[in-house]
Amino acid sequence: MEPIGGESSKDAVLYVNGVRRVLPDGLAHLTLLEYLRDIGLTGTKLGCGEGGCGACTVMVSHYNEVLKKCVHYAVNACLAPLYSVEGMHIITVEGVGNRKTGLHPVQESLARSHGSQCGFCTPGFIMSMYALLRSSELPPTEEQIEECLAGNLCRCTGYRPIIDAFQVFAKTDDAFYTNTSSSDLQSGEFLCPSTGKPCSCKSKGLNGAETCKKSTANENKYEPVSYSEVDGSTYTDKELIFPPELLLRKLTPLYLNGFGGLKWFRPLKIQHLLELKAKFPDAKLVVGNTEVGIEMRLKRIQYKVLISVAHVPELNVLHVKDDGLEIGAAVRLSELLQMFRKVVNERAAHETSSCKAFIEQIKWFAGTQIKNVACVGGNICTASPISDLNPLWMAAGAKFQIIDCKGNIRTIMAENFFLGYRKVDLTSGEILLSIFLPWTRPFEYVKEFKQAHRRDDDIAIVNAGMRVFLEEKGEDLVVSDSLIVYGGVAPLSLSAVKTKEFVIGKNWDQELLQGALKFLEIDIFLKEDAPGGMVEFRKSLTLSFFFKFFLWVSQQICMKKSTAIPLSYLSATQPFQRPSIMGNQDYEIRKHGTSVGSPEIHLSSRLQVTGEAEYADDTPMPSNGLHAALVLSRKPHAKILSIDDSEAKSSPGFAGIFLAKDVPGDNHIGPITHDEELFATQYVTCVGQVIGVVVADTHENAKLAAAKVVIEYEELPAILSIQEAVNVTRSSMEKFMWDGQEHFYLEPQSSLVWTMDSGSEVHMISSTQAPQKHQKYVAEVLGLPMSKVVCKTKRIGGGFGGKETRSAFIAAAASVPSYLLNRSVKLTLDRDVDMMITGQRHTFLGKYKVGFTKEGRLLALDLEIYNNAGNSLDLSLSVLERAMFHSDNVYEIPNIRIRGRVCFTNFPSHTAFRGFGGPQGMLIAENWIQKIAVELNKNPEEIREINFQGEGSILHYSQQLQYCTLGQLWNELKLSSDLLRAREDAKQFNLQNRWKKRGVAMVPTKFGISFTTKFMNQAGALVHVYTDGTVLVTHGGVEMGQGLHTKVAQVAASAFNIPLSSVFISETSTDKVPNTSPTAASASSDLYGAAVLDACEQNKGTRMEPLAGACYMQRIDLSAHGFYITPDIGFDWKTCKGNPFNYYTYGAAFAEVEIDTLTGDFHTRTANIILDLGYSINPAIDVGQIEGAFIQGLGWVAMEELKWGDAAHKWIPPGCLYTSGPGSYKIPSMNDVPFKFSVSLLKGHPNVKAIHSSKAVGEPPFFLASAVLFAIKDAIIAARAEVGHHEWFPLSNPATPERIRMACLDEFSSRFIDSDFHPKLSI
Ligand SMILES: Cc1cc2nc3c(=O)[nH]c(=O)nc-3n(C[C@H](O)[C@H](O)[C@H](O)COP(=O)(O)OP(=O)(O)OC[C@H]3O[C@@H](n4cnc5c(N)ncnc54)[C@H](O)[C@@H]3O)c2cc1C
Ligand code: FES
Ligand code: FES
Repeated sequence: MEPIGGESSKDAVLYVNGVRRVLPDGLAHLTLLEYLRDIGLTGTKLGCGEGGCGACTVMVSHYNEVLKKCVHYAVNACLAPLYSVEGMHIITVEGVGNRKTGLHPVQESLARSHGSQCGFCTPGFIMSMYALLRSSELPPTEEQIEECLAGNLCRCTGYRPIIDAFQVFAKTDDAFYTNTSSSDLQSGEFLCPSTGKPCSCKSKGLNGAETCKKSTANENKYEPVSYSEVDGSTYTDKELIFPPELLLRKLTPLYLNGFGGLKWFRPLKIQHLLELKAKFPDAKLVVGNTEVGIEMRLKRIQYKVLISVAHVPELNVLHVKDDGLEIGAAVRLSELLQMFRKVVNERAAHETSSCKAFIEQIKWFAGTQIKNVACVGGNICTASPISDLNPLWMAAGAKFQIIDCKGNIRTIMAENFFLGYRKVDLTSGEILLSIFLPWTRPFEYVKEFKQAHRRDDDIAIVNAGMRVFLEEKGEDLVVSDSLIVYGGVAPLSLSAVKTKEFVIGKNWDQELLQGALKFLEIDIFLKEDAPGGMVEFRKSLTLSFFFKFFLWVSQQICMKKSTAIPLSYLSATQPFQRPSIMGNQDYEIRKHGTSVGSPEIHLSSRLQVTGEAEYADDTPMPSNGLHAALVLSRKPHAKILSIDDSEAKSSPGFAGIFLAKDVPGDNHIGPITHDEELFATQYVTCVGQVIGVVVADTHENAKLAAAKVVIEYEELPAILSIQEAVNVTRSSMEKFMWDGQEHFYLEPQSSLVWTMDSGSEVHMISSTQAPQKHQKYVAEVLGLPMSKVVCKTKRIGGGFGGKETRSAFIAAAASVPSYLLNRSVKLTLDRDVDMMITGQRHTFLGKYKVGFTKEGRLLALDLEIYNNAGNSLDLSLSVLERAMFHSDNVYEIPNIRIRGRVCFTNFPSHTAFRGFGGPQGMLIAENWIQKIAVELNKNPEEIREINFQGEGSILHYSQQLQYCTLGQLWNELKLSSDLLRAREDAKQFNLQNRWKKRGVAMVPTKFGISFTTKFMNQAGALVHVYTDGTVLVTHGGVEMGQGLHTKVAQVAASAFNIPLSSVFISETSTDKVPNTSPTAASASSDLYGAAVLDACEQNKGTRMEPLAGACYMQRIDLSAHGFYITPDIGFDWKTCKGNPFNYYTYGAAFAEVEIDTLTGDFHTRTANIILDLGYSINPAIDVGQIEGAFIQGLGWVAMEELKWGDAAHKWIPPGCLYTSGPGSYKIPSMNDVPFKFSVSLLKGHPNVKAIHSSKAVGEPPFFLASAVLFAIKDAIIAARAEVGHHEWFPLSNPATPERIRMACLDEFSSRFIDSDFHPKLSI
């Protein structure tokens, strides 16, 4: 044992959910998450491992010696080193409540509000909310609740029901959180079946009807079962208290070890810390580990010594002094934020200009879990060029105190501390001790700026800190001092030195502004191929920020004539403020029997909110089980010259490596054509192609060994865009480009494979939408009959098409070592690998020519479309076909020619994604509708309406429309959204605001339901009735959050006229229902509902009466197999005639957005959606699907940008995916939900074509989010018109801040671009 300043300890203790656990030495390499999952607490999930999704959130409690109280806060367990929580109490979702002892109100509320679909994100949300309640002395505000959830991502729900579930704990409704209020509820208060809370939807629905008015059943009562710590009511024995031992126990210094010689120290005194630093000059100091953790795990940097400085008092000071604030380097950002808020309240306003700037900047800094652990010094010393705080420290004139190993202290201005890329003025023997932030003086102003892809929890594209100190000289205000610092434009936070020199001594007026803009262009120099790309955007932002600063300061001083600014400019200075989200759901309930038609909650939701629901990776491994990692290609196109596995074989825990030569059966795989290799033999055709698989005793060891396999390549030319694959440049046709989209299911791909009877049978549990495909792939690669291979899937944490075909090769890869070694093998992909190798929504490129009359009536369309398939066919042809079917959207086109081509490129194979090409086809249509509108100077809605298809319309593939409700729902939405008024309001707003613009749009959709491949439209089911009258249903569909099992169980319950609670669906399994189609194409409820109904009918007829037990005694078979095929469908591609679809789901959406033309920031103010779902089997689940699809669609049209190493992104290695994690790829967060978000279901239109008159819902609403894209475009049109540009311009999705800002031409952007500039896109 090495002493730390004379003392040290290896006695590490931790409490987890009230249970004392001694932490053995040797685990310094483990994260808290790994430890928790290793001890069987699998409720805490691994979604990304980089602090970006919140699935791993747990609550940490410890006794704070200074505050003399317990503090509770949420952290990301995936980044927290295990020993960092020594002496603390960890509460995981299992410790909050469970089904046996009772759910906590937070869990109950989320379950009842339909806030959990696939459930993978759910424990994280529960823990964030729980930690907020436990840490709040008073009930939190609605704003605090939304803020605390900023670090949690959900890909299924669209967030609205989660917000609704948690808002019941907000201040406005604090009575609800008490036991008293719950008893009030029990006495019959109205509860909304959609939100699970006292109904807030008494307001009018979209069509003026009372929302949910038919669903006030008392059985939906909310029954909180636990206590409220917030209002001081009594503890129940279910609530975990802070362990008394930890109250009494003093922290001790620690010295512990980890894998690979890693040393972990926890000094408690500065002296000890300095001694350690002297002894280990290369040691990394750790507080939040949010930088170091990423470096060690994702960048694979090996640090040997980590020193946790979180408990060194000298580094934790927070002193308010006469001249400023002293901040210890280890102070956590959430503490700092609190302190800033306090001093802003307490001190003179002019003194706290810097503090206010920090408050605003920290608000948009990471999620709450990160802010709860990340420290100030960590951010400073990392010296990231996009640090949000460093430009502010510099601008605000902060000073850093630095201490060396001998205790000598020196002070340096923040401005001089940063030397280069992640390089600071610290010698190896020095550390940052504290920061001193001076108060600002009268006429001294400090302001922050940040533009990111996503407002919440995202790193900046460009940020800035700016300060100016003005002095009165006679009539004028003259700049006495200033500093303008930018992040994101250079390898370090960059001070605009020439601009500073220029402004000093100048009057604060227009002349200064114009001069400063010129000097900024000189100061900020970005090369064309600068890392990060977006060069023109970043340069424009630097000027936009300064312009905003100029306006803001002018507004502060606004007494001089020369500085008066036009009123229409003021909105440029207003920060983004979002009100609490207002959701509205309007539907009627058409009950059929005991359950069909009821807004039942998801059958697994209670398991999901308690963390008891199991996913593939949660399955316990047998003691001799192995973990697998893939050996992946690093080249987009190359010949494999040699594979050297010698180093891998000597790697710790190594158990085997398997290549193509080891595959016992057929190495060729593929869902339609076998054009892929399981393991590459001679050539690789994309980065991330699988070359082999390595197995080892742990996941980490398997990855380590796989990384040691050395492959020699001969590089070959690679095709890295559709343009390169096919020449589409010639011709006079209009071009368009649509970007792809990553599925970002919260649960990464995972399979556990094992053998039975010494390898004669192979079984697996897989996270897949297509268990049958897993069975088939595995049987083929192992050379076994399908009858000896079984795939089971209980539930999956989201799929969205990404686990339809691209999950099967993962199971197949794991099956090879499992079969050959006769051992269980688990292969769970890390998030970055998953994103890199499993394909995405197809990018599309194409061209069109559209003919129309002067009224805007369509005459003809000539369309050519190309999709980027990647390196194999997979489902690309079917995706292209659906795009071709849907490229009329809802419009009559008398003459039409559509040609499509699949393009092979050197990217991973792209695949199915919600909508399956339909949204791409429809987006093309809406694009030319919009173009016609611009050319005729009309509103797009006018053009839409005069071209609508209707009852009896014959489509371009000869199918005739029947039961078309398009016109009706369009009119209802137009009326309820008051479209004309909204347009006029936006126009008025735009006239009054130069730098903010609003836009509106209303978009229709028609989505064809059925697999377009006829044979896939079949379904099987098995229904067993037991002697106690309960029913076990098995069918071929997979539960992935969409509520399929719930709906199918409702069908069975109504069929037997029994309560829903008597029906159980356990899992999907290929040995129960064989030869199933993937759960896809939105058709699963139609198909499996009908198959189950068929089985129930067989059981019911003579056999279920009067009682199952009696039937049994009569020797009557109580089990039946049901089967269903969709009738009357089929399409012949030779004649281009037929009925590919059983029916259509129609819908429409209205959206209103606001954009900031200077930065490209946008938000959706309103989204109203209406869908025709016939008589919904479960309207609450359907509303959840609509909201979730809309928000996912919003990601596609406006946020999520894939960046590949291609000609447009030369700074990324060729063929590599840059956006391979939540850090760089931004799906919508809670902050992106429309302020007003309404969903209504068309009433009174049963669908004669599907079970119980319902309609399919999964994919149809996705495209409706394009209303947001076209509303953004509408706003940009207004901005361009203001500078005289009325011509048509294309706007590709996603409408990122870059695309929005660069399309809004103005005097700042025109310095860098022409009016026809288009930001780059990986296509
Ligand atoms: C999901 C996520 C989101 C993020 N979002 C943002 C964001 O929006 N804006 C932003 O700017 N950053 C962001 N970051 C980066 C990171 O959170 C911050 O830089 C954070 O402040 C680092 O603090 P830490 O305590 O976690 O650092 P650690 O990882 O513990 O340490 C970081 C580095 O600082 C050094 N160090 C720490 N203390 C001292 C000291 N006293 N003296 C000398 N060296 C020291 C360590 O040796 C180490 O090299 C994000 C990170 C993640 C994972
Ligand atoms: S798994 Fe920890 S934040 Fe995603
Ligand atoms: S329910 Fe949130 S990710 Fe599925």
